[in-house]
Amino acid sequence: MAAEIISGTAVAEQIRAELKVKVQGLKTKGINPGVVFVRVGEDPASVSYVTGKSKAAEELGILSETIVLPEDTPEQKLLDLVLKLNKDPKFNGVLVQLPLPKHIDADKVLNAIEPEKDVDGFHPVNVGRLLIGDPYFMPCTPHGVQELLVRSGNSPEGKHVVICGRSNIVGKPVMAILIQKQKGANATVTMVHTGTKDMSKYTRQADILIAAMGKAKVITADMVKEGVVVIDVGVNRIPDATKKSGFRLVGDTDFEAIKEKAKAITPVPGGVGPMTITMLMVNTVRAAEQQSAKKK
Ligand code: GUN
Repeated sequence: MAAEIISGTAVAEQIRAELKVKVQGLKTKGINPGVVFVRVGEDPASVSYVTGKSKAAEELGILSETIVLPEDTPEQKLLDLVLKLNKDPKFNGVLVQLPLPKHIDADKVLNAIEPEKDVDGFHPVNVGRLLIGDPYFMPCTPHGVQELLVRSGNSPEGKHVVICGRSNIVGKPVMAILIQKQKGANATVTMVHTGTKDMSKYTRQADILIAAMGKAKVITADMVKEGVVVIDVGVNRIPDATKKSGFRLVGDTDFEAIKEKAKAITPVPGGVGPMTITMLMVNTVRAAEQQSAKKK
């Protein structure tokens, strides 16, 4: 039987509708959520992501501003800007789009963002809070993965989740979220990575498989069991002469083959992508609420 296709677009729309009502309510109390995006250089994927984020903010009535700096911006200049934005009361959230040019130490920049404005959830303080089960901001893509599972009726509770990929942005925080003794989590988690011998030995045991390796179609149908639920976080460009752009986007899994075997699977695009942006809006609204409560 062909799998159910989990539409991130539809789930994201549902969450955004809930959020829109919340933003309107906050505004009547004089709370105006705002977020600033900083992009350095013209990386095409980053241009597209930041445009998507600012559009989503606009649609929800959230104030947003995008600051674009040239590729050769000195690290200190970016750090100074972050410190200035940390103090700007217009912005409840400060987000620096990654990747940054090679001459800039990304960790140094992420560490400079005020943890209370770190709507990406990348600051070590927020990473630590997530790990101990007391999150301040959940990182957007991992939180989106959890919401997709829960809202599609595939709660990870009591399930064996296999995460492929150990990045700080996806794999590790997904693990930190799903191992918590909490509703919508409480899973048994296995993580496989480039150091794993015989990866398919583990992936075949997955009730839920989360692919976050950043490599096109490396998870093939023979690597998963019948009835698996697959969340594909990968966004890879592969050449496609039939497209005007010359490329198309594919995930880390072989979607066409796996969908014949899986219970449910997310498509690329239209799966995790729209969720990431939506969870950023959730964090921005949360930041506005938290900062306003603190002022009182
Ligand atoms: N680059 C790719 N994903 C992300 C993200 O979630 N946040 C930021 N800041 N940069 C990214």
